[in-house]
Amino acid sequence: MKSQIIMEKPAAIAADLLVLGFFQGTSALDTEGQTLDRQLKGQLTELMSEGIFKGKAGEHFMIHTREYLAAKRMLLIGLGKKEAFDGEGLRKMAAVALRQAEKVRANSMALILPDTGQMAAEMVGQCLQEGLDLAAYRFERYKKQEETEQPLVTVSDVLLNRRKGMKVKELEKGIETGRILSKGVNIARDLVNEPPNVMDPTAMAEEAIAIARETGMAVTVLEQEDMEKLGMGCFLGVTAGSRRPPKLVVLTYKGAGDASKEVIGLVGKGLTFDSGGISLKPGAGMDEMKGDMAGAAAVLGAMAAIGRLKPTVNVTAVVGLCENMPSGSAYRPGDILTAMNGKTVEILNTDAEGRLVLADCLAYARHLGVTRVVDVATLTGACVIALGNHASGLISNDDGWQQAVVDAGKAVGEACWPLPAFDAYGEQIKSDVADLKNVGGREAGAITAGLFLKAFANEIPWVHMDIAGTSYTKKPLAYQQKGGTGVAVRILAQLVSHWKP
Ligand code: BES
Ligand code: MN
Ligand code: ZN
Repeated sequence: MKSQIIMEKPAAIAADLLVLGFFQGTSALDTEGQTLDRQLKGQLTELMSEGIFKGKAGEHFMIHTREYLAAKRMLLIGLGKKEAFDGEGLRKMAAVALRQAEKVRANSMALILPDTGQMAAEMVGQCLQEGLDLAAYRFERYKKQEETEQPLVTVSDVLLNRRKGMKVKELEKGIETGRILSKGVNIARDLVNEPPNVMDPTAMAEEAIAIARETGMAVTVLEQEDMEKLGMGCFLGVTAGSRRPPKLVVLTYKGAGDASKEVIGLVGKGLTFDSGGISLKPGAGMDEMKGDMAGAAAVLGAMAAIGRLKPTVNVTAVVGLCENMPSGSAYRPGDILTAMNGKTVEILNTDAEGRLVLADCLAYARHLGVTRVVDVATLTGACVIALGNHASGLISNDDGWQQAVVDAGKAVGEACWPLPAFDAYGEQIKSDVADLKNVGGREAGAITAGLFLKAFANEIPWVHMDIAGTSYTKKPLAYQQKGGTGVAVRILAQLVSHWKP
């Protein structure tokens, strides 16, 4: 979506929809508000004194303004308490504005920027653009035109009416960053929303190659034979039951050249479909397992953004792509697999496959010289039980690195919550016949899955992010349609761009 910065008297802005935000509990209108109110023959003060509009977060009210203002309609948006207003408040404001603009089929929209106090103008531009681009996302590729919910008119232009003191250059820089981040998120959403018959490992590897080409990154795709040579027995076990060939994709971004010894690794679980394998999942809801590649999608979306933001760090992304299917060639409960790093794993449930793919991906990332790593995965139903849909679970071996992920999450409005990683939990994944077993029982399932991965990241600082509950939503959220959320894309991009070794 194109945003253009203006500075005009609100009453003179000729847009289909003019948007004005109000903070809760501010009884008096500011000068801009007062002027507008006068032009609207006191409608604003009336709405507030009658208690119809209080300015609560998420509240909105449409006014028809044709005779009074240059704009056709005006939308009031509640911004909540002024002290609590932040970047996420701006994203939500932009999203509400866009949804209402679509409802009244506005072709153009103007936002009067609220008083954001100390917030940097760059941040203001970035958050507004994210709210707009993320709320405008739709996945309707497979629907006939007349059946889509696509509004007849889409908002093509947004005017941002800046406040005194907000520098145009800074706002514009933020808008560009917001655009880049949203594009990364929407790439991840598309990858998750595409059906598993279309977005299989080969198709996903092709998407990764396209991202690398567009951003000038190096890309390598390992085929099954390469994985065999490297001894990736865990990964190969999982893919064995599928007819679709597995792919292991490596993207290399060198923002710091050879000047830095530090290489951040981003590792993603990319099960393009997880049926459970021989330990088959129940039928109800199995379709959602097309989203079991959301970790890989997040890593690819983040790399697309990183390649455009150009931070001065080196990043190596490793995504493991395959299917988990039952068949005559599938791996079995009882099998013992050997990972690339030599560790042996007793399989007790073929549905605990993500940790096996990630084990070899983490070992391979280390083999490539990664010095610290974050892995992202839709790893456990247990994490959904523990944290629901509002926070991703973290397991780590390094408090500082974990805190950096938590902080990045706060900055982008996606909560991450550390789970305890006490050694005592490790007892649950000790095997009688191998180094490890791939399931640790029902208790603390998200933690034991994380600790399994720890054995493959070993010495280097590592954070595991379980996005099983946050990568997919069954109901629309502020700037999110039903389906893939693109969670973790902005977290990873933020983490990498702000990391100081
Ligand atoms: N992909 C699933 C986890 C999952 C569950 C993701 C719900 C998204 C929503 C994973 O591969 C899985 O099946 N995990 C099992 C592990 C168990 C067998 C130890 C689980 O969570 O039930
Ligand atoms: Mn599974
Ligand atoms: Zn899975």
